[in-house]
Amino acid sequence: MPAAHSRTFRDGKTLAGELLAAMHRAGMLGVTYPDNYHEELIAKYEKGGVPYPHILSILGEPRIRGHFFYARMLRRTGPFLDYGCGTGDNIRQLLRDGFPRELITGFDLTGESISLGFDLYRDEDAIRDLFVVDKQFPFGEETFDTIYSGSVIHVISDTDELGNYLKNAEKALRPGGVFFGSTLGIEDGGSCEPDERGPPRVMPRAELVRHLVAAGFAHPDMVKRPHEAHTPGDQKCVFEFCTHT
Ligand SMILES: C[S@@+](CC[C@H](N)C(=O)[O-])C[C@H]1O[C@@H](n2cnc3c(N)ncnc32)[C@H](O)[C@@H]1O
Repeated sequence: MPAAHSRTFRDGKTLAGELLAAMHRAGMLGVTYPDNYHEELIAKYEKGGVPYPHILSILGEPRIRGHFFYARMLRRTGPFLDYGCGTGDNIRQLLRDGFPRELITGFDLTGESISLGFDLYRDEDAIRDLFVVDKQFPFGEETFDTIYSGSVIHVISDTDELGNYLKNAEKALRPGGVFFGSTLGIEDGGSCEPDERGPPRVMPRAELVRHLVAAGFAHPDMVKRPHEAHTPGDQKCVFEFCTHT
């Protein structure tokens, strides 16, 4: 099981404010809401909060579309897995971009964020069948042509669990299949202060490469992107990677 993670918003953000902003972004994508829907969502989520609050803050702006491999991803013709799909925002982006629905699967260990996505996009009836929730990775060997991992590696604190996550991805890919994604990392020579509300695993580039190669992947292509710093002096960055079996 993943370690408990913080459900606290940063920088003075609130559940009510972030839900309203997410509804606004989903509205820009064509979602409509009945009267009092915002209040209903607050009532639903105020007790337990939302998992990974940051993914609510970026709902409607999925990271996958900015990934250096994304344009090539859209031209692939085999089954696709979003491994640790959260709200399913990346999957909705693929659908908007015309990737064949029948090739898409989203998988997560818990259905909590998937349900949050359904609540905000109001599309559960339309796309529920694309999602799989299980405590164990349920897919057989050589099932997928492409696997995406968005902001999952940096939430896996346990090293054995990370190894299993990456090996599952490697085994579930067909020969020559592509594994791409992004994770928070640390600049070469940088340091990362402990941050109880931050991601539990912030690795330098070489360590990320080592984990990917240890799981059986080829040496990855990597692009470093700036990270929206939460604290002054934050030296974290985003590593986008793309590798293959
Ligand atoms: C920060 S969220 C990112 C969600 C989504 N990929 C995105 O880009 O918005 C991390 C997600 O990874 C999932 N996760 C963590 N460890 C996992 C594992 N070992 N297998 C599958 N999913 C996992 C969590 O449940 C959570 O939904």
